[in-house]
Amino acid sequence: MTGIAGIARQVERRTGIKTTARDVENILSCLQRVSHFWEVVYLSQKPFNIVAETVGILINEGLLENREDGTIGLTQAGKELVEVYRIYPKRHYACPHCERRGLDLSEFNELIKRFEQETKDRPEAVIDYDQGYVTSKTVISRIAMMAERGDLEGKKLLVLGDDDLVSLAAGLSELPQEVVVLEIDDRIIDYINKKAVQLELPVKAYKYDFRQSLPGEFVRAFDTFTTDPPETIEALEVVMKRGLAGLKGEGCAGYFGITKAESSFVKWREFQKMLLNKFDVTITDIIEDFNQYVNWGYLLESIRDDYSFVQVKPKLNWYRSSMYRIETVSGFSGVDNEPQECELYLDNEALIYKPVSLTK
Ligand SMILES: [Fe+2]
Repeated sequence: MTGIAGIARQVERRTGIKTTARDVENILSCLQRVSHFWEVVYLSQKPFNIVAETVGILINEGLLENREDGTIGLTQAGKELVEVYRIYPKRHYACPHCERRGLDLSEFNELIKRFEQETKDRPEAVIDYDQGYVTSKTVISRIAMMAERGDLEGKKLLVLGDDDLVSLAAGLSELPQEVVVLEIDDRIIDYINKKAVQLELPVKAYKYDFRQSLPGEFVRAFDTFTTDPPETIEALEVVMKRGLAGLKGEGCAGYFGITKAESSFVKWREFQKMLLNKFDVTITDIIEDFNQYVNWGYLLESIRDDYSFVQVKPKLNWYRSSMYRIETVSGFSGVDNEPQECELYLDNEALIYKPVSLTK
């Protein structure tokens, strides 16, 4: 029988993502609590590809069984293994009221309703731009958080990419002075502009690709930026650059979500170093699971199809991200605003990444 450390080494070899024995223990812990692959991905807070390979190997080793109804569960050998290694069922104490965000939204009930009503005819998520939008509660929580921190009321807000329609929610809240959306998808630009005119909101969307310089009129023009970036390290760098180039100077803030499903902690560490050392900002908040995404239609066709337990429709909103808030502190003097080519969507931690053995 392969030990836990041996399984971790196999997973690392297959995924190219650093994997520790503790990662495998964590997944075994989750497998004692839930029996759907996507729930294990959510509960373990580990990259999708690590969870997929770990589960695949555990099945091969006879420690886990893949049942006909698509669920997975420990075999007798698996149960003996977790006992020997003292791996216990995952504990989970998420607050059901605020969904872990720590915000009371009772003042925003009307806004949630209004936002849902006004965006019923929103464009659906498409794969071309890695889209997948968040729940209405998430959108309004973003508004509440920015408002609470003094980053929204009477302020100018820059939204970089907005399939979540945060701009419209911000406009409907009547808090910001002005909202500018920079977006690559014409469907979303047109939708936001049409709604903004219809509802008389101080919101305007323009066509923009992150890889271009931020247009001059938007440089040093905003108090706050918010974005939901693609998660290759290069994309994170470019998106931060554009957001920060848009800020007026010291004491301004940026908000964005980073997942664990598509970003390992090795990537998190690299990114955090970049924030502190290269961009000279401070990280004021990281709120786990703040952003909850509505399951998007193209998921199963866009990901690996070598494991049947992966090709199962998710039941819960399993894809979440941690909300980062960064702030420009004393001495912040802006960032360079040069055009920059980069791979936006694909690295070996991305959902759409297919291990080499699977690509033709
Ligand atoms: Fe709570």
